[in-house]
Amino acid sequence: MKAIVVYEAGGPEKLIYTEVPTPKVKPGWSLIKVKGFGVNHSEIFTRQGLSPSVKFPRILGIEAVGEIAATTDEQHLPVGQKVVSIMGEMGREFDGGYAEYVLLPNKQIFPVTTQLSWADLAAVPETYYTAFGSYLRLKIKADDKILVRGGTSGVGLAFLKLVKGQFPDIKIVGTSRSLSKKDSLLAAGFTDVILDQEGQLQTEKKFDKIFELIGPATIKNSFQHILPEGIVCNTGLLGGQWYLEGFDPIFDTNNAYLTGFHSGDVDASRMQQLFAFIDNYQLTIAPEKIFSLKDTAKAHEYLESSQSFGKVVVLP
Ligand SMILES: NC(=O)c1ccc[n+]([C@@H]2O[C@H](COP(=O)([O-])OP(=O)(O)OC[C@H]3O[C@@H](n4cnc5c(N)ncnc54)[C@H](OP(=O)(O)O)[C@@H]3O)[C@@H](O)[C@H]2O)c1
Repeated sequence: MKAIVVYEAGGPEKLIYTEVPTPKVKPGWSLIKVKGFGVNHSEIFTRQGLSPSVKFPRILGIEAVGEIAATTDEQHLPVGQKVVSIMGEMGREFDGGYAEYVLLPNKQIFPVTTQLSWADLAAVPETYYTAFGSYLRLKIKADDKILVRGGTSGVGLAFLKLVKGQFPDIKIVGTSRSLSKKDSLLAAGFTDVILDQEGQLQTEKKFDKIFELIGPATIKNSFQHILPEGIVCNTGLLGGQWYLEGFDPIFDTNNAYLTGFHSGDVDASRMQQLFAFIDNYQLTIAPEKIFSLKDTAKAHEYLESSQSFGKVVVLP
């Protein structure tokens, strides 16, 4: 099969399109014919060598959508069944989705019923599951004023679609480090756009809910923009800082709440709830860009460029 293998850490040019043996099923694992996968910021970190547990060579990819090609669980995962998978060490401890086939433990393969196209479906599992989990943590209400810090990211824009799907008239503001993306953010559905300059929001405004995707690098500044009893959900770390330093939980939280979400906490019923939500509110998924497997390096280049906007998928 064709796959993208990383032999050593480095830039996008280290994503090598090559021929490798198609994996064979083993007890408790089934083979998926990959029909698409989303590209995630965490895979950029892994490619750069910032995931210490990952040993190269490795086929990256923490998610995939496709059909069962060979099974060890006829009952739940029959051949031809449409499935999605995320996390559970795929693309990290064992080979992941950047390939024509991926071998995965049955317990992390989720059958889905959906009318979405492969391109749309490929954009959903990791990104929308993360956005949906965070959305539930933030306990969004119709009259909330919401800020998405990292509004141009795939997860940020997925969150916007979920929120506007349920509450079309809600006030939801997005941030970017560049106002050149303002028109695109407004066209995507944000009510307003705030410049995030060197980790400082360029506004006096305060919000009921803040979806923090830049992470520990900016969270202290986010709490200066939260209303009392508000919630900050830290789900991302686009700022490249993993942990909080110099954060005083007594004073710096400003009478608000801090929570987080981890997509590794996968649960079949929440996954089904997500697909039901997409169906129920008739969300338009439409990934921003689609690449072929051989051009996966170009997908990474795009996500790392200053033009980066929204969800990028690859269709093998
Ligand atoms: N908790 C979880 O389980 C979980 C699951 C999935 C994703 N995540 C995290 O969620 C975040 C978003 O993921 P994604 O895949 O959607 O990202 P993405 O689409 O690759 O995000 C791209 C955006 O990140 C912004 N950005 C890039 N470098 C930055 C920096 N140094 N400082 C501030 N902003 C920067 C850029 O925005 P501008 O140029 O417009 O400023 C760019 O448009 C990531 O941190 C990812 O690791 C967490």
